[in-house]
Amino acid sequence: MADEPLVLGIETSCDETGVGIVRGHTLLADAIASSVDTHARFGGVVPEIASRAHLEAMVPTIQRALKEAGIAASDLDGVAVTAGPGLAGALLVGVSAAKAYAYALGKPLYGVNHLASHICVDQLEHGALPEPTMALLVSGGHSSLLLAPDITSDVRPLGSTIDDAAGEAFDKVARVLHLGFPGGPVIDRYAKEGDPAAIAFPRGLTGPRDAPYDFSFSGLKTAVARWIEARRKAGEEVPVADVSASFQEAVTDVLTRKAIRACKDEGVDHLMIGGGVAANSRLRAMAEERCAAAGITLRVPRPKLCTDNGAMVAALGTEMVARNRAPSDWDLPADSSLPVTEPHVPGEAHGPHSHGSGDHAHEHDHDHAHAPDHDHVHELSRKNLYA
Ligand code: KG4
Ligand code: ZN
Repeated sequence: MADEPLVLGIETSCDETGVGIVRGHTLLADAIASSVDTHARFGGVVPEIASRAHLEAMVPTIQRALKEAGIAASDLDGVAVTAGPGLAGALLVGVSAAKAYAYALGKPLYGVNHLASHICVDQLEHGALPEPTMALLVSGGHSSLLLAPDITSDVRPLGSTIDDAAGEAFDKVARVLHLGFPGGPVIDRYAKEGDPAAIAFPRGLTGPRDAPYDFSFSGLKTAVARWIEARRKAGEEVPVADVSASFQEAVTDVLTRKAIRACKDEGVDHLMIGGGVAANSRLRAMAEERCAAAGITLRVPRPKLCTDNGAMVAALGTEMVARNRAPSDWDLPADSSLPVTEPHVPGEAHGPHSHGSGDHAHEHDHDHAHAPDHDHVHELSRKNLYA
């Protein structure tokens, strides 16, 4: 509908320069320039290279998105941008570009949270999110179970990883197997030829006394590395397909089990899965099976919308406009450790309640968006390739 908000979204938190254009829940353009090939030879994302690549790709990618959507920049109702979490230098390029465009066009600027965007993108595929939304967010930097009564203002973490993120585990196991970077898609492919029951890898934090919604993948990663090392030492060939399938089975088993338990405990009858690892074919199939058995409706966006992109930022941006959320200030910072509890960074000048309809209590706790919380230093190493 023409009266729905039209928003351009910019994503530069890691190695994808993403620019999306969304009207309401309709995707009009999803332009991406990736620097992943440049990083591959280093075995992971090199922050400085990512920042430079964003800078080169930014304007052409915005122009491509506008052309693809068939709109003029002046038609926009707002410009949304990932303000965090992510790589500081990479975020800064997107935030600066968004400010420049928004200011020059005289449109409101919305600094939004990368993680909330990964959830909100599903509106482009399956329509309005139910409220509350239960979301399993699994990416290269995060693995969390989130309960979101309102994706624009109220996102509550139920649990998260205490060590490696799920995608990080895929990337590290792929490295041990010499499969290149990023590891998720390659392991997904090899696993199709392997036996998921070939090797009994550990399921972290699934004991009766363990935190029900927290994850741990570091022990699994080490177990896989030891298993491979033992084979190599014995001069035996490593069965890459079986290792991939068994490792992937261990990850997806734990993720789906805990997510379904959270839905049952919270009385939520649907589950959204987002983030790069949601592109995994076994995770999608297992979640489908287990959700159906538990009477839970599953919502997973198509794989291209699961990995980082600009459409997800635009999707959350349109929701901010539709719900009259306060735009960000022109001095919006790039916050590498923006907490998941802050879906967006409202401007000081506007105040959380100045834009009409019911802002929630959680929203005014945004002060540290302007003074990054250095207790979250581990978040800075979300793509820590040197670990
Ligand atoms: O959300 P995303 O694109 O970037 C971050 O915000 O981190 O997620 C990237 C992560 C990488 O670790 C990558 O290996 C993983 O998602 N990934 C996958 C698959 N596709 C991407 N993991 C498992 N299976 C896949 N098919
Ligand atoms: Zn992401």
